[in-house]
Amino acid sequence: VLLSHSVLASALYHSQWLLIEKLIHVLPVYQFLAYPSTFPVSPPDPDHPSDHDYDYWKLLLYCDPEIVLPPLHLGSRSPARNRDTYRTDDSQPWVLPVVKKVEQKIANDGSLNHEYLPILGLPEFRSSSSRIALGDDSPAIKEARVGGVQSLGGTGALRIGAEFLRRWYNGTNNTTTPIYISAPSWENHNAVFIDAGFTDIRAYHYWDAANRGLDLQGLLQDLENAPEYSIFVLHACAHNPTGTDPTPDQWKKIAEVMKRRYLFPFFDSAYQGFASGDLDKDAWAVRYFVSQGFELFCAQSFSKNFGLYNERVGNLTVVGKDSDNVARVLSQMEKLVRTTWSNPPSQGARIVAITLNTPELFDEWRDNVRTMAQRVLLMRAELKSRLEALKTPGTWNHIVNQIGMFSYTGLNPKQVEYLIKEKHIYLMASGRINMCGLTTKNIDYVAQSIYEAANIH
Ligand SMILES: Cc1ncc(COP(=O)(O)O)c(C=O)c1O
Repeated sequence: VLLSHSVLASALYHSQWLLIEKLIHVLPVYQFLAYPSTFPVSPPDPDHPSDHDYDYWKLLLYCDPEIVLPPLHLGSRSPARNRDTYRTDDSQPWVLPVVKKVEQKIANDGSLNHEYLPILGLPEFRSSSSRIALGDDSPAIKEARVGGVQSLGGTGALRIGAEFLRRWYNGTNNTTTPIYISAPSWENHNAVFIDAGFTDIRAYHYWDAANRGLDLQGLLQDLENAPEYSIFVLHACAHNPTGTDPTPDQWKKIAEVMKRRYLFPFFDSAYQGFASGDLDKDAWAVRYFVSQGFELFCAQSFSKNFGLYNERVGNLTVVGKDSDNVARVLSQMEKLVRTTWSNPPSQGARIVAITLNTPELFDEWRDNVRTMAQRVLLMRAELKSRLEALKTPGTWNHIVNQIGMFSYTGLNPKQVEYLIKEKHIYLMASGRINMCGLTTKNIDYVAQSIYEAANIH
């Protein structure tokens, strides 16, 4: 490095450079740099094969010639890439028509350029995102105590929020503040908070396996027992992976304990609109907490409800007790963002902001979101009725009671193994399926296969 930067560098001939390179190979310092790394290779995650594990050609081997269907991906445990994304009834990714329209609009707009965005992001994106999370008539918005941080997807919003909390939540060192995450949860939650420096990550009761529903008593007990000022990560709607949300009455009970015990709600809203088809219904819990006077964070993702998975569009909505407080939070967020991604990308944020801020486009988007939600709801109803018609052992109401893209089928690991090995239906070891893998063409096959699996004990 020194050599290449020195004035000598330009004076050396190519052959002299080659000689230097040869010499460098025998120097210990070069050995050190080139030495195989001492850190371990990260173990593969069977539920999430990474891109280099993915081999298109290998996939063919998994197709049994006897089976007319190709491998059927309901989420994971497959040799193919796992992506928790929406699929049409033809098993294809869907670019929302409204997104296509807005992309065209952006391409034709000569006034737009590729200058850097402000550190905290596109202002009209941040404000419109917070508005859809909190509602047009939100008291917090009216009182100017809401701020937004444009982030790289919902994951970025969670991470930047976690980084802030570790530094500034309650005093300046919060590494030991307990972070409560539902059991089970989206598997990245734990890792995001650990990587942000938190050391005390705890699980709170959520899933009642026996009743295939919410363990409200366990959850309320955990809230009562948590040290005051603990942070709770709450799924705003369409809980991933169980698809089981508290009802409004249950949310009220949760909020009551959290308020009394000074527990901080960190909402993760990755599926607004996608869960029920209704943006307001899916935001009910967040808005209720705001109405109860909570200060909170809400990590929003536009990956699912806009189908903008690879554009990385997210927003961290911050609700504070007053505008001065929010300004303080945002000033620290600026520092964090500057050293993390410096400033965010514009394309996805423009698409979302233009859509949310143009009434006709907003209506069209709502229709598009409803189309996705309704397809999932239809598949839920169809699967349940087929399983019942086949007299599949067990009860299957949970398939329609659960909401969003995912369903916890309740199938045990042995039954999952059967589906993978014998039926070439790929799903997570936990029995979680992505409902979008189901189509009108394969649903009979899937129902019949689940029927067979459920008969294995
Ligand atoms: C509960 C939950 N939170 C956050 C995310 C991350 O969203 P994004 O892809 O926008 O980072 C997901 C994505 O699957 C999720 O299911």
